[in-house]
Amino acid sequence: MKPYISQIKYLLILKSGCVFPCNHIRKFPTFGICAVQIPCLIKDETYGILLVWIIYISLGGLTIMALKDYLLEKPILETERLILRPISEADVKDLEEWLPDPDLYTYWGRAANKSELNPKELFYDPRPHIKRKPSAEFVWGIVLKSNNKVIGQLYVIDIENSRMAKVAYRISKEHWGKGYTTESLKKAVNFCFKNTELQRLWTDVDVRNIASCKVLEKCDFTKEGLIRQGKFNLTYCDYYLYGLLKEDYPS
Ligand SMILES: CC(C)(COP(=O)(O)OP(=O)(O)OC[C@H]1O[C@@H](n2cnc3c(N)ncnc32)[C@H](O)[C@@H]1OP(=O)(O)O)[C@@H](O)C(=O)NCCC(=O)NCCS
Repeated sequence: MKPYISQIKYLLILKSGCVFPCNHIRKFPTFGICAVQIPCLIKDETYGILLVWIIYISLGGLTIMALKDYLLEKPILETERLILRPISEADVKDLEEWLPDPDLYTYWGRAANKSELNPKELFYDPRPHIKRKPSAEFVWGIVLKSNNKVIGQLYVIDIENSRMAKVAYRISKEHWGKGYTTESLKKAVNFCFKNTELQRLWTDVDVRNIASCKVLEKCDFTKEGLIRQGKFNLTYCDYYLYGLLKEDYPS
């Protein structure tokens, strides 16, 4: 296979019927346009970049954005029973009901910290006049549609070079065993692989955390290895590494 062929990730089909093979699509929602990188097909070894600017509407609703764009404008995801959305100060009451629960931290590698014990502190900003950059991670509150309460959290963190990221999750004890974490993680995985450049999602799980292992396996993560007495957050324990690759994810 010629090298430039392997660079082609998308086929951009315009309403006009034109088809562009391209290796990168970047959407700029504010300007309503997309930048598309097309590998130059003239010389096999080189990738001359042809930058084409296209009015966004002509793409007919194409929704591919770069990970960077999503980190600036955090997405809201929806499943049958749940909404995944950023949490805000308005959610403190819900968080207070379950976030300080010590049972949540049995296999978390540390006890609850100050802001987990007192969720109000999550939103305390000692220097409110400083404009902060959006965090380079996704932290979704898991919201139950039936009562609009935040019952858990799902994280995609430690994003490295837009290529791999760690997942983590926790849910109110009252709602354990109802499939909510599996439902949330499946949706987040789908978002990461279908809408961003992330290639690998992974996590580490204390071997005693059977519920968490089950969640990962139901979401098609592979148990990649066992680390014996390794550093796990602030403690040491036997833990599994689980991973899922975009290439193994059904397209
Ligand atoms: C791990 C955790 C997020 C799972 O959430 P959940 O919403 O209960 O997960 P789900 O209901 O989607 O799936 C859990 C599965 O584990 C099973 N399970 C739970 N405890 C179990 C146990 N002790 N032994 C065997 N299976 C168990 C459930 O029956 C379910 O499997 P099933 O669908 O085949 O019946 C939740 O227990 C939690 O918040 N724990 C504390 C925080 C934590 O440890 N997070 C993970 C860090 S890696």
